[in-house]
Amino acid sequence: MLSSTSTLDAADFAAAYHDFRHRYPAFDATLALDDLRATEYRRLDDQGQVYLDYTGGGLYAESQVRQHMELLTHHVFGNPHSSNPTSLASTRLDEQARHYVLEYFNASPDEYVAIFTMNASSALKLVGEAYPFVPGSRYALTFDNHNSVNGIREFARARGAAVTYIPVVPPDLRIDEARLFEELERGDPGYNNLLAYPAQSNFSGVQHPLAWIEAAQARGWDVLLDAAAFAPTNRLDLSRIQPDYVPLSFYKLFGHPTGIGALIARKAALRKLHRPWFAGGTITIASVQGDGYYLADNEAGFEDGTINYLNIPAVEIGLRHLSAVGIDVIHERVMCLTGWLLEEMVALRHSNGAPLVRVYGPLTTEGRGGTVTVNFYDDQGGLYDFRWIEQQANAENISLRTGCFCNPGAGEVINALSAADLAPYFHNADRMTFEQFIEAMDGRATGAVRVSLGLATTFADVYRFVRFCRSLLDQPAHPLHA
Ligand SMILES: Cc1ncc(COP(=O)(O)O)c(C=O)c1O
Repeated sequence: MLSSTSTLDAADFAAAYHDFRHRYPAFDATLALDDLRATEYRRLDDQGQVYLDYTGGGLYAESQVRQHMELLTHHVFGNPHSSNPTSLASTRLDEQARHYVLEYFNASPDEYVAIFTMNASSALKLVGEAYPFVPGSRYALTFDNHNSVNGIREFARARGAAVTYIPVVPPDLRIDEARLFEELERGDPGYNNLLAYPAQSNFSGVQHPLAWIEAAQARGWDVLLDAAAFAPTNRLDLSRIQPDYVPLSFYKLFGHPTGIGALIARKAALRKLHRPWFAGGTITIASVQGDGYYLADNEAGFEDGTINYLNIPAVEIGLRHLSAVGIDVIHERVMCLTGWLLEEMVALRHSNGAPLVRVYGPLTTEGRGGTVTVNFYDDQGGLYDFRWIEQQANAENISLRTGCFCNPGAGEVINALSAADLAPYFHNADRMTFEQFIEAMDGRATGAVRVSLGLATTFADVYRFVRFCRSLLDQPAHPLHA
């Protein structure tokens, strides 16, 4: 770990690390991850990179790539849609990976199937385009959903379903449960009703209660639990909670490969879906002149065309890597580092006592994950442009994320924007960009700065970020390009 801090003030770093270990004794049980960082993820320190965008994408261990490359260089794999030897070799490994996905999430194969998709968004689209919304059905979702969950409202509305957003409430950006339960009571169990929420918000890091799943199902709702931001650093145990649809992206869990996600779905919930088309691989038979087709059962009916058969074995390699490291160890480590980061950032004050940062979301590690979103303010309360912050961070080789993170609802809440404020911007004949929108709102809307921690994060990473924050103290708020 020290190699990455060689350019830092060693004494200050040592004191901070000592203080951190004292404040977070649970970190001691996660020290094996420092060794892993120094070997499997050493490219970060070799290049002096501080990577703080794990909610954007996870990082792969070198051994994952090596194992995958060995597999590819020592075997011959053909398209799995045949029964020749090379095709069967692909099928065997891909099915083995599919079983392992269920095993990893402790999902009974009697209850669940794992459908391979391109990413979480395409898993969400599979549900949205096929969910039997009709007039009388309801689609309820929290404000802090990712746009790929928001997008399902277009399918719901087009089929006459009522769409209801449950607001998040500042400053913690949690849900007012009374509002949620009012909505759940409104659902008529005679219709198909779908509740969608993130197990962890990719905006605020808030972890919404998983107990909502059973509560909603007891009232006749189906539940879509977006696990994309949750699964990389938390245990998702599908024997304890049983959402109907779980979308996720594997690159967020372990970096390699990109281009594969999954929809893990209850078999009964899958049978409810009506696919709007058929494709190669999804049918038992189809006919041109007979003008008909039969959709295949379970996952086969949902995997359009040829699956990503060379990369799917790398999903098993990645999941086995996470299992070997231990998701609970990863979780513990990320929470210790997040706790320290939050405390340090909130304590940063300009000389006149004004706070440097405003955190959007919970200030403690209770009911949250390792995603922290903030804005920076000068000593007069002037906002630092998030794009300027990103430029400064880039210059320090710190990879963070800025903007609204495909999560506009949470952004609207932090900026106290109402439907009346926003609706006029969505009737333009010409497309508007995010930058144009920010300009047009003339200071009433802004993006934010997000840092997110993961498997390979060290104390030195968060220390360097806090040091970067400290360098902003007593600087006047900068416009972009200043
Ligand atoms: C909570 C959440 N849901 C869905 C997605 C979409 O994932 P993908 O872009 O891999 O489809 C993301 C991506 O950041 C996310 O954080």
